[in-house]
Amino acid sequence: MNDATLNGDIRAALREAIALLHAARVDAPTTTARLLLAHVLDKPKEWLIAHGEAQLDAAARQRFGALLQRVAAHEPLAYVLGHREFYGLDLIVDRRVLIPRPETEMLVELALDELRRGAGLGSAGFSVLDVGTGSGAIPIAIAKHAPNARILATDISRDALAVARLNAERHAVADRITFLAADLLDGIAALPPILTANLPYVTREEIEGLPPEIQAHEPRVALDGGADGLELVRRLLAQIAARLDAPACASALRAAFLEIGAAQGPAALAAARAYLPRARSAIRKDLAGLDRVLVVRFYDCDE
Ligand SMILES: C[S@@+](CC[C@H](N)C(=O)[O-])C[C@H]1O[C@@H](n2cnc3c(N)ncnc32)[C@H](O)[C@@H]1O
Repeated sequence: MNDATLNGDIRAALREAIALLHAARVDAPTTTARLLLAHVLDKPKEWLIAHGEAQLDAAARQRFGALLQRVAAHEPLAYVLGHREFYGLDLIVDRRVLIPRPETEMLVELALDELRRGAGLGSAGFSVLDVGTGSGAIPIAIAKHAPNARILATDISRDALAVARLNAERHAVADRITFLAADLLDGIAALPPILTANLPYVTREEIEGLPPEIQAHEPRVALDGGADGLELVRRLLAQIAARLDAPACASALRAAFLEIGAAQGPAALAAARAYLPRARSAIRKDLAGLDRVLVVRFYDCDE
């Protein structure tokens, strides 16, 4: 579709756009077309319904056509719109970061509960470490709801960290979040009381079967969890164990919350018990009743 084929008023342009998205087998074509046009016109979706007769100018038609082409080519809607809501916060997203998923909000809830129970600051001055921070969704949501929290957020992708920094500034929490490029815990000696991580956990085989919106557009480094999806989770557990067993016992770690795939509960639990035999590990289910978070609670260092 180009601007020449889009008709002049909103109702007609939407009708044409819905037909195009439907033919391209895009999910929810009506809602998607309305969201895109509302974005182009910088108006709420409801405004479009009430103003179906309003004429679209040439610039709006051209922009709408260009965005429609991207969605019809199965680019995720969040990338095309440039943002996604997470835990009530509007976050900038683009192809440098995974689009935050609603199920990850559970990690934020668990960390906030732990902070309310009085987790203080570790020796490095942080209350939370978020590993594999992506868009910064987890630390930003925690910082917004826990005004005293100081958070260290890491990612192996410098591109992702650039987006996370933008989001932290946008939500006025950049002064309480330190972003660091690191492979898991490399270079981090002392762990704070709380650790959160939504690391890649899709198996190599599953990646091939993902919808094109995910497979062809979201960063591979944000998806690929290795042969069984748990390679990074296991490496992280091993690194945590090494820090807890260090002679000086510099870690203040009380609890770690690691997001996992719905089919990974038993294997993740077995890994946690193998690497961290003195900790108490359990699997928490999400609202859909699916295994979602590996919770590991730690002994005190002087025990
Ligand atoms: C599934 S995404 C999650 C992003 C974000 N935490 C969220 O929930 O939206 C996983 C993130 O882990 C990062 N990552 C992958 N391998 C890593 C590693 N070895 N060390 C640190 N971060 C890594 C990716 O770059 C990506 O941003």
